[in-house]
Amino acid sequence: MTLRISVFLVLACLASAPAFCDDMDSSAVARGKYVEELSDCSACHTASPKEPFAGGMPLTTPIGPIYPTNITPDPQFGIGQYTLKDFRRALKDGVAKDGHYLYPAMPYPSYARLTDQDVSDLYAYLMKSVAPVHKPSGETKLPFPFNLRWGLAIWNALFMPGDEFRPSNKHDPEWNRGAYLVQSAAHCGSCHTPRDPAYQQKAYDETSADFLSGGYLEHWYAPDLRGDMAEGLGRWSEDDIVSFLKTGHAKDDAAFGNMRQMVENSGQYFSDTDLHAIAHYLKSLSARAEASYYGPPPDPSSEMKTILSGTGRPGAGLYLSSCASCHGMTGAGQGFKAPALAGNPTVLAENPGSIISILLQGDTTAATKTGPPPQTMPGFSRFTDAQIADVLNFIRNSWGNGAPMVSARTVADVRAKVKEDPKTPAAVSAARAQKRPAAPAR
Ligand code: HEC
Ligand code: HEC
Ligand code: HEC
Repeated sequence: MTLRISVFLVLACLASAPAFCDDMDSSAVARGKYVEELSDCSACHTASPKEPFAGGMPLTTPIGPIYPTNITPDPQFGIGQYTLKDFRRALKDGVAKDGHYLYPAMPYPSYARLTDQDVSDLYAYLMKSVAPVHKPSGETKLPFPFNLRWGLAIWNALFMPGDEFRPSNKHDPEWNRGAYLVQSAAHCGSCHTPRDPAYQQKAYDETSADFLSGGYLEHWYAPDLRGDMAEGLGRWSEDDIVSFLKTGHAKDDAAFGNMRQMVENSGQYFSDTDLHAIAHYLKSLSARAEASYYGPPPDPSSEMKTILSGTGRPGAGLYLSSCASCHGMTGAGQGFKAPALAGNPTVLAENPGSIISILLQGDTTAATKTGPPPQTMPGFSRFTDAQIADVLNFIRNSWGNGAPMVSARTVADVRAKVKEDPKTPAAVSAARAQKRPAAPAR
């Protein structure tokens, strides 16, 4: 249907005045800009706000750092020589113009599900409205055997999901739009779905219960987005999900780490219709067996009094002296000023990677067009590994929270990964100062 319309438009364009073709171009560019916002190419491909898309900061992967390349229309260092066909192949098959295979740190297994219309609009946007930057990006140098890119042909043959997005006639159009966005452009699964040892996602759509069941990438753990009651979205409404993606706040929870960046760079620009479609789709995902538990106690403040009047618990003292002023005696937080820790799915997540990272580095809540003003959580890297484990075990097992214990060793592992990561909060804050031009009308 869309294909027929575009063929018609091209023919109409060729047969009529060039002014009409210009209009067609500019609407493709505007649509392509929105596809870029949905798919967040700039999250990886932009290191400096002054040079959008000129190449990004390296991604730390299990096999070493991988640099996102320059995708401005520069003919030498960017994608200036890419035809639409070349561009489609890079995006959907993971093969660059010169034939070399891309590492799946570039989320082509998700973009493989983009419609041809979205790919060509995105191409029009990058080629026509992004300034060429005549500069090479950082060079990826991986150790043997990972430097041999032909090995990725085998990876693709084994692990590429391969199927196009097919709407399901068992569901309504809103669900289908949500499924399309989550699986393809917005590539939520590339962070939120667990990966197998060869880095492939365990699932790419709702036909598997592993899909969006929580993933660990760099030192961030992207929690379960399925219907689970403790660490999933079982207690969230569709409106909560919409608000979180748009402003970084919902249910006294706040987006942080690379989810906060996702909200600032991408989520806040989604149309309300698309946000609702995503929430509608996520709410259809079933619950799994989970390791954590949440059952609010009848009186959390008397629980705190008992803890404090008795022999105490490891971490309780640290919590009182360093955290309670913001997060409250009963972990209830202070609305947008400091998130609640009681019942917070990320605090309850089986994998504590994200909460260890924020404790070490601190973070500032999302700066968005429609959300509340940013608030900062200080970093506590001066705490020892054992102290961080204690205070986290305390918040993970108080006020009705029940989550598996965190060991000092796990904290040490995450601390080492945080140290290696060049994307420090300071570097990221510089990049977020990037002012995007106004979003296209839609
Ligand atoms: C999660 C990070 C990430 C996101 C998001 C991402 N990319 Fe990439 N991309 C990479 C990395 C890393 C590479 C380099 C891979 C390699 O060297 O094998 C790459 C390579 C590419 C290339 C190959 C360029 C060349 O000639 O080497 C193109 C084209 C490209 N990306 C386009 C896009 C577009 C368009 C988007 C948004 C729809 C996008 N990327 C989103 C990480 C990302
Ligand atoms: C670059 C990686 C990344 C991408 C892409 C990403 N997320 Fe996240 N997400 C995270 C991390 C890490 C967290 C945990 C930190 C936090 O709670 O903010 C998170 C948290 C969340 C939360 C809060 C849930 C909770 O349990 O507290 C929601 C909801 C969410 N993501 C939805 C999405 C959706 C929907 C998409 C796709 C449209 C998406 N995310 C894409 C990394 C990502
Ligand atoms: C000055 C106020 C302040 C203090 C002190 C503080 N925090 Fe926070 N905390 C915040 C804010 C604000 C956020 C949200 C940060 C963001 O979203 O980027 C946050 C986020 C968190 C999160 C992530 C929760 C989520 O889903 O957003 C955890 C876990 C956390 N704090 C634990 C602690 C612990 C443990 C301490 C004490 C060692 C502490 N905080 C001290 C203000 C504070």
